[in-house]
Amino acid sequence: MVHDNEVSNKSGNRPFEDVLKASMSRRHVLMRSAAFSATGFLAALAGNRALVPGAVAAATGGSGASTALGSGTTLAQAALIGFAGLGPADGPVPSISADYEYSVVIPWGTSIQGNGSDYTGDPTTRPSAAEQAEMVGIGHDGMWFFPINNSNERGMLAINHEFGRNTHVLGKADPESLEDVRLSQHAHGVSVVEIRKNGNGTWQNVSSPNARRIHVNTPVTFSGPAAGSPLLETPAGNAPLGTVNNCANGYTPWGTYLTCEENFNGYFGTAAEGWEPTAEQDRYGFSTDGFGYSWHLFDPRFDLANPAYRNEENRFGWIVEIDPMDGTQTPVKRTALGRVKHEGIALTIGKGGRAVGYMGDDQRFDYIYKYVSSGNYRAMLNRGISPLDEGKLYAARFNDDGTGDWLEMTIEHPALAAQFADQAEVLTFVRLAADTLGATPMDRPEWTTYAPKTGEIFCTLTNNSRREVADAANPVAPNANGHIMKIIDDDQLVGTTFKWEIFVNANDASVQENPDIGFGSPDGLWADPDGRLFIETDGRQPTFGDVQLNDQMLVADANTGEIRRLFVGVNGCEVTGIAVTPDRQTMFINLQHPGNGDPTATNFPAATDGVTIPRDATVVITRKGGGIVGS
Ligand code: FEO
Ligand code: CA
Ligand code: CA
Repeated sequence: MVHDNEVSNKSGNRPFEDVLKASMSRRHVLMRSAAFSATGFLAALAGNRALVPGAVAAATGGSGASTALGSGTTLAQAALIGFAGLGPADGPVPSISADYEYSVVIPWGTSIQGNGSDYTGDPTTRPSAAEQAEMVGIGHDGMWFFPINNSNERGMLAINHEFGRNTHVLGKADPESLEDVRLSQHAHGVSVVEIRKNGNGTWQNVSSPNARRIHVNTPVTFSGPAAGSPLLETPAGNAPLGTVNNCANGYTPWGTYLTCEENFNGYFGTAAEGWEPTAEQDRYGFSTDGFGYSWHLFDPRFDLANPAYRNEENRFGWIVEIDPMDGTQTPVKRTALGRVKHEGIALTIGKGGRAVGYMGDDQRFDYIYKYVSSGNYRAMLNRGISPLDEGKLYAARFNDDGTGDWLEMTIEHPALAAQFADQAEVLTFVRLAADTLGATPMDRPEWTTYAPKTGEIFCTLTNNSRREVADAANPVAPNANGHIMKIIDDDQLVGTTFKWEIFVNANDASVQENPDIGFGSPDGLWADPDGRLFIETDGRQPTFGDVQLNDQMLVADANTGEIRRLFVGVNGCEVTGIAVTPDRQTMFINLQHPGNGDPTATNFPAATDGVTIPRDATVVITRKGGGIVGS
């Protein structure tokens, strides 16, 4: 995605400026035996296998062939990642391991109801705003597959539409009317579609009463501690509408989809003379021009200087819960999870059946967060309380000795009580609360994932060109290629301390100079129940010979660190989003902004003709002859 180039954290939190030396010497701290075993939790999740594919098999040892051999053995590696690795690749069409094949489904412009009235990339035209509201959006990103009757061939796919440049969506740099703005707005948000497998192995979307578009003008509601706060009300009295810049995602054990609002600041702006951001607006990166969408020129809701819409910007930056099986449900913004530039959320179950979520705030020098529900998630649901409405939010502080602390973001803390009026204000401006408590500024935290096999949490730190001083948790300055962090959380995920280490540093020569695994800017990340870690990239990739690698997806063994390349995307695209069927024999990933919208770079998914506008699309990956994807 086009990320925010600014640094909005001016807190000066640099707790470990002189501790570069420590990053390697403390690996021994992380004894595997200290890792929390997930087996008990997986058993608890056994009733939710539709949402945690393979969890039942993993919990019962049904798919544990590799671990039966013990960790770190050659046989275990071979069992876990058995496919032929793909070499460096580029070009206008995707490349995939010789053991795999792919097809394409729901590109931008596909009719939500699968009735064939699609936009197919004709460069002489665009959908109308009304047509786009009934079509799959652009900027395919996080997603999840919700099987119908636990089927591996039929289910609801909920998918984020993160962003679309005006030049791509509108065919021009700036909107010229409210109609143009509405087209852009309708291309953002979320799609929920029903997809089915065809007899020939391809997939398509079909009509469903629960298929729907949720976009920037869809009614939404707030829940949790900040709901009802004046900070979320405007003088215009307008009802809350919409979700935007839907980046990565989460999925809950109770069957819902979580869409995460990331660079929402980029959609606001103002042409008013003399406008200056408040301290809170500045911390979230608001500016007169935003990211150049210019919605504010025709839609006053996005004009930062319009007094009638004061606070409108506070209504974005949340995690939004969507029921993929009920097309009439109003999406709910869960304020207990805090307002940041949410990349995604890895939600799992910790001690006592509590819902535990790990989240990245993707901006240079921003933070990693954790949420823990106040009680057992089933008991809370039985009482009619969302586990995402009552709980504690923490920000991460990484100590240089391989330990860490979760800093509780509560108004009970004297420093926060002195700074904020109430918990609603803490949550609405949680970046400032984390500044105050001394969270560790990170190198752009992107996806998080919980690996049930080992009980560890992984997080991508994609890059940070502006880091001048390394620290233990961000050990390279500037961090051109990013790294992946591993967190071993204490007290069965609900404690206030943790241990951590760097799983892989993409700046290492062993990564950058190895054509078999070379990658940079890790972003999308998902751990499967067997211990595979799927790594997707968004940014500059290394060059080998005359091949300037495109963004890609690799598979790592979370236990041994072995990495193999599975897939390479088309010119100009980002590879992101990941979802699987319950049997994990079908995987869905996304190619976002192929060719950056330029038909001369690629026409994907159309055949190469140099003219057809490339369209964001979902790619369906299967192993030839069957098998778990990644094996
Ligand atoms: Fe939307 Fe940080 O990627
Ligand atoms: Ca991302
Ligand atoms: Ca990224």
